Amino acid sequence: TDRYAVVGHPVAHSKSPRIHGLFAAQTRQDMRYEALLAPLDGFVATVRDFMAVGGRGMNVTVPFKEEAFRLADTLTPRARAAGAVNTLAFHEGRIIGDNTDGAGLVADIRDNLGLALKGKRLLLLGAGGAVRGCLLPLLGEGPSPLLIANRTADKALVLAREFGAGVAGCGFGDLAGLSFDIIINGTSAGLAEVALPLPPGLFAPGALAYDMVYGRQTPFLTQAAAAGARCADGLGMLVEQAAEAFLVWRGLRPETAPVLKLLRQELA
Ligand code: ATR
Repeated sequence: TDRYAVVGHPVAHSKSPRIHGLFAAQTRQDMRYEALLAPLDGFVATVRDFMAVGGRGMNVTVPFKEEAFRLADTLTPRARAAGAVNTLAFHEGRIIGDNTDGAGLVADIRDNLGLALKGKRLLLLGAGGAVRGCLLPLLGEGPSPLLIANRTADKALVLAREFGAGVAGCGFGDLAGLSFDIIINGTSAGLAEVALPLPPGLFAPGALAYDMVYGRQTPFLTQAAAAGARCADGLGMLVEQAAEAFLVWRGLRPETAPVLKLLRQELA
């Protein structure tokens, strides 16, 4: 039996053991997946201990994704671009750091919501870790333009510059008069129940509003619904990033639709 775990602080709320348990049963993989609470100053020790008992890989959640990035011996291009690691794979004592968040977001929009990003006007709200973590895979889909808007405009400009051609940055005040086909909220404002200063007309007719947060009606989604947008929360992204991690570890990608459906029922 191969062992995997999610490590975080806190970690009890994590849905990863449930999701990977369902994936393992569906694909008949001989594996066990548990949740490990690491002390805030004990992330590296927790990883090393898990490797020492034969662990094959880990998911990393708040607040350790940047520490996991520094710990990895090698990084995938998407992890390097994200500046954060959510998936570790162990091979002969070496630690490979990956990040499946962006691929999960892309898969959810493309496969579950049925929307191609190619040529679409894409707006990302926020310029923190959540947005950075998804930028490279989103860019790879060829949206046009891809604009990052942030409360602190400077952070959006710096982030956009880092990713080069195809990405622009601005402040919320610069959004007046613009329209987008897909608007993704990657700010943490929803967690504080704060509405974002979004100008009228921002959502093009038939636009998709996507909040990376799941399990709650954020002010962003309420604003989007009032503007007539189609709304989605981040539960699909959660399931899809897990499927991408499962693919990294096991070499096969589980079917996500039944798992997403089940989780949706359990949350209701
Ligand atoms: P995360 O890792 O979740 O992205 P973060 O790196 O702290 O967390 O980034 C939080 C993001 O949410 C930032 O873009 C932040 O905007 P600032 O860069 O201006 O701080 C954004 N954010 C948080 N609270 C917000 C609010 N009330 N209104 C608008 N944006 C907010």
